[in-house]
Amino acid sequence: MKLFADTADTAEIRALAEAGLVDGVTTNPSLVSKAGRPIMDVLTEICSLTPGPVSAEVAATHAEGMVDEGRHLLDAGPNIVVKVPLTRDGLIACRQLSNAGARVNVTLCFSTVQALLAAKAGAAFVSPFIGRLDDLGVEGMALIRDMRLVFDQYPELDAEILTASVRSPLHVAEAAKAGTDAATVPPAVIWRMIEHPMTDRGLDAFLRDWQSTGQSIVKGDMKP
Ligand code: E4P
Repeated sequence: MKLFADTADTAEIRALAEAGLVDGVTTNPSLVSKAGRPIMDVLTEICSLTPGPVSAEVAATHAEGMVDEGRHLLDAGPNIVVKVPLTRDGLIACRQLSNAGARVNVTLCFSTVQALLAAKAGAAFVSPFIGRLDDLGVEGMALIRDMRLVFDQYPELDAEILTASVRSPLHVAEAAKAGTDAATVPPAVIWRMIEHPMTDRGLDAFLRDWQSTGQSIVKGDMKP
């Protein structure tokens, strides 16, 4: 399962990349606004930090404008994936961009039938927003399970499921169990996935015992 960083903050992406924890990046207009930098500068820098897919979202609402913006965004790097919303115009733009050889991530997906249409429109990725469904009192993870079921039954639908709007390590675990192809996760949640109190407690005990031996590994003093 691929793990994407859901951020436009290049310092955060660099830190995750150093730890080998980034298979790609997703951005959206809100995240770019939070970064407070010109969009093409941010995207170019992100593309230099990871060879994986970097999703860059259009802001136009009509298909023609989305295609124009998508072509422009592709200049930021060879790994750019154009992100379009799951609207009628977004699907038209998806078809045109994918026919022209671009990879497209169809975002703001909230139902199985929307996902089906995005895949038919040639999406490389479809992004179901599970956290925002949970916010409504609807189980977001059920959408991931249903999409997996449908995509597996029809091999001609070769879009990848990119679980989005992830809020917790539990979301990541459940999406992985449901067979998502990828999840895009805020950096703070990725770091939290490392943590376990038993790991900390176990390490404390190991270090205490090690200190009591008076040895040093680097100096090569391995004798008891
Ligand atoms: C990523 O592609 C989405 O834009 C993002 O995961 C949305 O997350 P949010 O619902 O926490 O804003």
